[in-house]
Amino acid sequence: MNRTPGGLLQRDVPLDRLNTFGLPARAAGFAAIETPAQLIALRALPAWRAWPRFVLGGGSNLVLTGDFAGLILQVRIPGRQLVAEDAEAWWVQAGAGENWHDFVIWTLDCGWPGLENLALIPGTVGAAPIQNIGAYGLEMAERFQQLAAVDLETCERATFDRAACRFGYRDSVFKQEAAGRYLVTSVTFRLPKRWQPMIRYAELAQALEARDFSHPTARQIADAVIAVRSRKLPDPAKIGNAGSFFKNPLIDAATFASLAERHPKLPHYSQPDGAVKLAAGWLIEQCGWKGRNLGAVGVYEQQALVLVNRGGARGADVLQLAQAIQASVQAKFGVTLEREPVVL
Ligand code: EPU
Repeated sequence: MNRTPGGLLQRDVPLDRLNTFGLPARAAGFAAIETPAQLIALRALPAWRAWPRFVLGGGSNLVLTGDFAGLILQVRIPGRQLVAEDAEAWWVQAGAGENWHDFVIWTLDCGWPGLENLALIPGTVGAAPIQNIGAYGLEMAERFQQLAAVDLETCERATFDRAACRFGYRDSVFKQEAAGRYLVTSVTFRLPKRWQPMIRYAELAQALEARDFSHPTARQIADAVIAVRSRKLPDPAKIGNAGSFFKNPLIDAATFASLAERHPKLPHYSQPDGAVKLAAGWLIEQCGWKGRNLGAVGVYEQQALVLVNRGGARGADVLQLAQAIQASVQAKFGVTLEREPVVL
């Protein structure tokens, strides 16, 4: 790895350890961004204009398909603080490079509940709004106040409120029209003081009952979430993976009615707009994929929605298995599965 005299830009950098799938790839250029001002310095380099750029957080929602002939900007902006408080809420801000789970635990330790259902989600604070992370009955959007970003085309600072982010299910403007344009520098959350435990999700409720917690604290909910997640989802530090590989598909009510007639056990969640969300993991399991391998990639034994690196996998192996799964689900159920991670 060669460093330029400026020290900021590194060349020919391996990315294997910077993606939780553990896929092999190298980047022609790489810069770790610790302050927004460093982007200004980088912008002066010829490489900035010559190369495509990619913003990297924790690399936990990413499939690397080969070497990247461009510049990787890894966000390492630190910091976390209470920025405001009134009778209604706490406003808490974190640098985009902070580890998401550590940030959640820190808020709980400080006595500011509200993010406990999102404990143990891999990745960084800055990546959380990009795909509107969610789990166990809560989406990040519900606690989001605003984010600060730098426009990579102009290097000007920008602020996005909740409406501007256009959050959807595992979706935001940053995965759509604004994809690749902004580098998120910090995120501010609003944590209401009138806290209500969110324990509607069946498995979470069961985990709390098993511990005899009828009126759980936020910390107890976080511990139960951690227990459920650890049981069902592979630890990326031990088995390479990128979390759920597909989104849970949304279908219209008429399509659901005809599917449910043929498959009475089909798990489903009715949406406020009349659409129905299906469980992709169930569909994949019904097609016989759970626990199966294709080359160096497999479908996790405990959760069919997660693809895992069995050792030495390449991005192409991951995409090949994903396509085979998509084809089976399409053939058996007529349902199209959409990929969740970003492919580079
Ligand atoms: N199911 C199966 N077989 C499987 C997996 C699931 O039959 O192998 C069934 C379950 O029995 C249940 C239903 O599918 O009836 C839903 O399963 P689960 O509750 O495990 O949740 P999920 O839909 O598979 C989603 C999120 C997860 C999140 C959990 C908990 C998506 C794509 N995934 O998974 O998010 O942790 O709910 O809220 O929305 C992620 O996005 O990376 C992620 C891990």
